[in-house]
Amino acid sequence: MNSEAPAETRRDTLTVIDNRNGKQYEIAVKDDTIRPLDLRKIKIHDSDFGMMSYDPAFSNTASCSSKITFIEGDKGILRYRGYSIEELAEKSTYLETAYLILHGELPTASQLTDWSYHITHHTFIHESIKKFLDGFHYDAHPMGMLISTVAALSTFYPDAKDIFDPESRRKQTYRLIGKMPTLAAFAYRHSLGMPFVYPDNELSYCGNFLNMLFRTTELKYRPNPTLERALDILFTLHADHEQNCSSTAMRVVGSSHVDPYSATAAATAALYGPLHGGANEQVLRMLLEIGSVNNVPAYVKRVKAGEKLLMGFGHRVYKNYDPRAKIVKHIAYEVFDIMGRNPLIDIALECERIALEDDYFVTRKLYPNVDFYTGLIYQSMGFPVTMFPVLFAIPRTSGWIAQWQEMLLDAEQKISRPRQLYTGFDLRSYVPLDRRS
Ligand code: ACO
Repeated sequence: MNSEAPAETRRDTLTVIDNRNGKQYEIAVKDDTIRPLDLRKIKIHDSDFGMMSYDPAFSNTASCSSKITFIEGDKGILRYRGYSIEELAEKSTYLETAYLILHGELPTASQLTDWSYHITHHTFIHESIKKFLDGFHYDAHPMGMLISTVAALSTFYPDAKDIFDPESRRKQTYRLIGKMPTLAAFAYRHSLGMPFVYPDNELSYCGNFLNMLFRTTELKYRPNPTLERALDILFTLHADHEQNCSSTAMRVVGSSHVDPYSATAAATAALYGPLHGGANEQVLRMLLEIGSVNNVPAYVKRVKAGEKLLMGFGHRVYKNYDPRAKIVKHIAYEVFDIMGRNPLIDIALECERIALEDDYFVTRKLYPNVDFYTGLIYQSMGFPVTMFPVLFAIPRTSGWIAQWQEMLLDAEQKISRPRQLYTGFDLRSYVPLDRRS
C-alpha cells in the first residue's frame, strides 16, 4: 500500500510499531534516510542495548554525505561535481577533471597551469624507493609493488601527518597524484628487468606515464597522440565513483587520522581484488580461457549454473549499462585502428550479446561494467594483464584523496567503527589442554 497521508498528518517522520510489545516510536526522516542511532530507543526492557540496523556489505546504508560524485544506477548516470561523465570525457583532460573532483569547480586557465605544474614537479620519487622495488621478485604482481611503495612514501614525508593543515594536504595531493604513475611505471620496468625511466616534465600526465613505461633507446620519447588521449579519457572515466569498496577503504582507514599515503595504500589494496578494480585483469583472463566465439554459449551456461562469474558484468549500483563502459567500448575501436584489432573483442561482443538477451542476466539487471572492455584496450596498447588494475589505481587516486579530504572536514564524521551482531558462544569455562577432546 502506498497511499498518501492527509496533509494535516504529514510529517517528516517514520512511525514504527514494535509488534513485540505494541510500543510506537516516531523516527525522524531526512533526505529519505533515517539515523540508525534513533532506533536505539526501541527496546523491550530498559536494560536492553536497543535496536540496531544490520546491513552486511552496506547494501542500503549511506555512510556519509558527499558532494563529489553522483550516480543514478537505474538510469546509468554518472557525474563528477554535477558534470556528466560523457561531457568530461569528450572535453576535459584527466588533470583538469582531477582538479574538479578535488576542488569542486573546473579550474580557470591559470589554475590549471598552476595545478599541472605542481603535479608535474612532484613526479620524481626518492631514490631509495628503487631499492624497495629491487627487492621484489621479477614476477611480483605490480599491484603488490604499488601498494607497498605508496605505503613506503609515508616514511619519506612525515609532514603528511599534519592532516588538518590545508597546506600539508595540498602538498600530499600533488605528491600522490604526481608519484603514482612513477611508482607504477617503475614496478613495470622492474618486472621486465629494464632500467627505470625518469619523468619527462615536458610531456603531459599520460604522455609522461607512457614515456616511463615504454621508452627504450630514443633520446626523446614521443607518445602516439591518439593512444595518449585514449589513456587520458580512460583516466578521466576512472577518477572517482563515490562510495565503492576502495573509496570506502580510504575513508575508513583515513578516519583513524593516519597519513594519506597509508590510507591510499589501503585503498589500492581494496582495488586490487577481482570483484573491484582487479576485474579488468580477470576479464582478460576469462576471454583467453573462453578462447573462441563458439565457446561463449558453453561458458555462459557455466556462469548461469553458478560455477563462474561473468567478469566485467554486474554492479552494486548500476542496474543499467555502466555509462563508462559505453565510452570505453568506443575508445577500443580508436585504439584498434592504430594497434590492430584485438581478436578477443569478438568473444567479448558475443558474451555481451548473449548476456543482454538471456533471462538470467536480464532479470538480475547485469550489464557490462567499466572493466569489461578496458582490458582489451590496455592489452592492445601493450600492457601485460597484471598492469590493468594499476591503470585503474593511478587515476582513482584523485577520487580517493577527494573522498578522504571530504571525510576529514565533515563534522559528522568520526573514526569508522561499525557494530556487529554477536552470534558466538556465551561465557563458558576454560578447558585445560589435557581435557580437550
Ligand atoms: N556473473 C554472474 N552472475 C552474477 C554476476 C556476474 N558477473 N554478478 C552478479 N551476479 C548474480 C549473483 O550471483 C546474484 O544472483 P542470485 O540473485 O541468483 O544470487 C545476483 O546476480 C546479484 O548479484 P550480487 O552478487 O548480489 O551483487 P553485488 O552488488 O553484491 O555484486 C559485483 C556486485 C561484485 C560487481 C558482482 O556483480 C560481480 O561479482 N561482478 C563480477 C566482478 C566485476 O566485474 N567487478 C567489477 C565491478 S565494477 C568496479 O568495481 C570497478
